[in-house]
Amino acid sequence: GRVLLAYSGGLDTSCILAWLIEQGYEVYAFMADVGQEEDFEAARVKALAVGAKKFFLEDLKREFVTDLIYPAVQANCIYENVYLLGTSLARPVIARGMIAIADQEGCDFVAHGCTGKGNDQVRFELAFYGLKPDIKVIAPWRIPEFYHRFAGRQALLAYAAQNQIPVQQTAAKPWSTDENLFHISYEAGILEDPNTTPPTDMWKLTQSLEDAPATPEKISIEFKAGLPVKVVTSDQKTITDPVDIFLTLNTLGRKHGIGRIDIVENRFIGVKSRGCYESPGATILRVAHMDIEGLTLDRNVRALRDQFVTVEFSRILYNGHFFTPEREFVTSAIPASQRTVNGVVRLKLYKGNVVVEGRYSDEGLYDERQSSMDELGGFEPTDTTGFIQIESIRIKQWAQANIRKGQA
Ligand code: ARG
Ligand code: SIN
Repeated sequence: GRVLLAYSGGLDTSCILAWLIEQGYEVYAFMADVGQEEDFEAARVKALAVGAKKFFLEDLKREFVTDLIYPAVQANCIYENVYLLGTSLARPVIARGMIAIADQEGCDFVAHGCTGKGNDQVRFELAFYGLKPDIKVIAPWRIPEFYHRFAGRQALLAYAAQNQIPVQQTAAKPWSTDENLFHISYEAGILEDPNTTPPTDMWKLTQSLEDAPATPEKISIEFKAGLPVKVVTSDQKTITDPVDIFLTLNTLGRKHGIGRIDIVENRFIGVKSRGCYESPGATILRVAHMDIEGLTLDRNVRALRDQFVTVEFSRILYNGHFFTPEREFVTSAIPASQRTVNGVVRLKLYKGNVVVEGRYSDEGLYDERQSSMDELGGFEPTDTTGFIQIESIRIKQWAQANIRKGQA
């Protein structure tokens, strides 16, 4: 059979490539450019040298930003209150890109190098099945012949040597990473002890707070229907392209040390995992978007969105349920929630902080006269007396019952 392998250029997927060939498969290698720093040409040369019959590199950056990242920004998606879902967000676009090539090239199988303990295996495979239900998946790290034979890095290195698989001379980093234009993740290796502080040179996408500039930088972000449509930088540059906006915010976030986190999270399969993440641009956008919603979003729409769309869409993304009916249902509510989210937020970036300095909007949900402490603005203070009296009926009843019980 013909198999399309999600190839990374690293040791694991290179050994998987050689092993699949050994099992009698014809292997095509697939790489997605989702904005990671990578020598794609070197990876292509390597895949073909190891024995791939064809190599595909798909540039998925734009669809990653417009189809996944921006809806997640509009919905303020977050997992367990801290993780901005950078890896989860990339999986649907990568899986979709793979299935398109698998269809085009007549591959009956797809293969990946995810471990059997993680989230990514679930995300990739549920996405494959959601797009192409008859696809056959090969997950070597869940096949006993494979994982017994390749238990440990030494076995992989020996197999690589046997199969003329070039191994990078640089010592492997003592953790594993996943990078794209939204973020980088670090986990495993020395990070498995949750009390081990990451070495300062681990962090790759942001400066340390110590090295971040001592002078703040001011920018503004304009939103239309909850989407960032214009960024004006401190040197008066105006950026309007969706991808450029995201990349510009990444550059600014990196410079000012914005968006580093270190957490222990609960994976979908139930194990706890320590992970470190850097999401510079996404962190700036989150603060700005939540702020403009304060000025422009109706209270009840906001409350419903928070408990329904934000919570459910975040869970759907984390658990790999993107190509499902519930995802279609939940994301269909996003545009309706964002219709009035139009305006500009002014921000100060400084030593890891995203400080809101002001905001404005023409939406008209905020009325300075109505909100003022200095004038009535059409408001009848006596109306509120009745409002409080009605609201207090059951509270008084409850308090009296408490007192009676206390005396009994
Ligand atoms: N724990 C994060 C998540 O589940 C990051 C996963 C990183 N994946 C990887 N293959 N290194 O989204
Ligand atoms: C892996 O297990 O392959 C990476 C981590 C994850 O998917 O959660």
